[in-house]
Amino acid sequence: MPTTTDARQWLERWDRQQERYIPDREERFAVIADVVEAAAERPNPLVLDLGAGPGSLSLRVLGRIPAAQLVAVDADAALLGLARAACHDRRSLRIVEHDLRAPGWPAALELCRPVDAIVSTTALHWLTEPELAAVYRECFRLLRPGGVLLNSDYLAEPAPALARLQQRVLDGRVARVGTAAHEDWATWWAALAEAPELADLATAGRPRPIDHDVPEPPTHPDHVRLLGAAGFAEVGTVWQVGPERVLVAIR
Ligand SMILES: C[S@@+](CC[C@H](N)C(=O)[O-])C[C@H]1O[C@@H](n2cnc3c(N)ncnc32)[C@H](O)[C@@H]1O
Repeated sequence: MPTTTDARQWLERWDRQQERYIPDREERFAVIADVVEAAAERPNPLVLDLGAGPGSLSLRVLGRIPAAQLVAVDADAALLGLARAACHDRRSLRIVEHDLRAPGWPAALELCRPVDAIVSTTALHWLTEPELAAVYRECFRLLRPGGVLLNSDYLAEPAPALARLQQRVLDGRVARVGTAAHEDWATWWAALAEAPELADLATAGRPRPIDHDVPEPPTHPDHVRLLGAAGFAEVGTVWQVGPERVLVAIR
């Protein structure tokens, strides 16, 4: 187990690495926190973070709503190990190792009440359409009436010319913000595997249970359709830069 200081430095390095691809990641987190806060009908909402990785979004939600109860789910033992070490002093953050593609993940969360909000960032594009449909159906069952699901991710348009323009907008934003110079994904993982202070974690996470995106991830209209089919009453985008969106579904 790494020290808290080491884990927090690695988490900070993760955040910079992710900003290489999502220059407005902090703004995206702030928007998610805005919606969770607005939809919460109690001071201590129960919030799930799907594909939480090392816990960046869970920590932002807790920063905004300190009494929230967070449950962070992910299948990657190395990233969850970092989250555990970085956040061991946060009693309101519970970490669950589970693959969202495996039936029964909701039961593994051992929830004692309906969920107020489900959040996810840069994670669900790793699911195929049937897997995503099943996850959305389970989310609908877990949420209380009026509860919200927020999926913030790269949600492209199926129309090719429009998709190219959206990518152009994102590339322009990356260039203006200047995050293209940040460390990339492969370099971060290679450094993790070499770091002596993380030797236990790197072993725990090898081979990683899921490597990367599915070849043809569901598009933006696919997500909207699947959320509607799962039973959500209202579905729409509350924030967008090119293909990067925060999609909200209200139960
Ligand atoms: C790019 S990372 C994003 C992590 C975190 N949400 C963030 O924004 O910092 C994608 C995460 O989704 C997780 N993930 C992808 N597919 C998953 C699945 N089927 N079950 C659980 N976690 C999954 C990966 O393990 C990884 O931690």
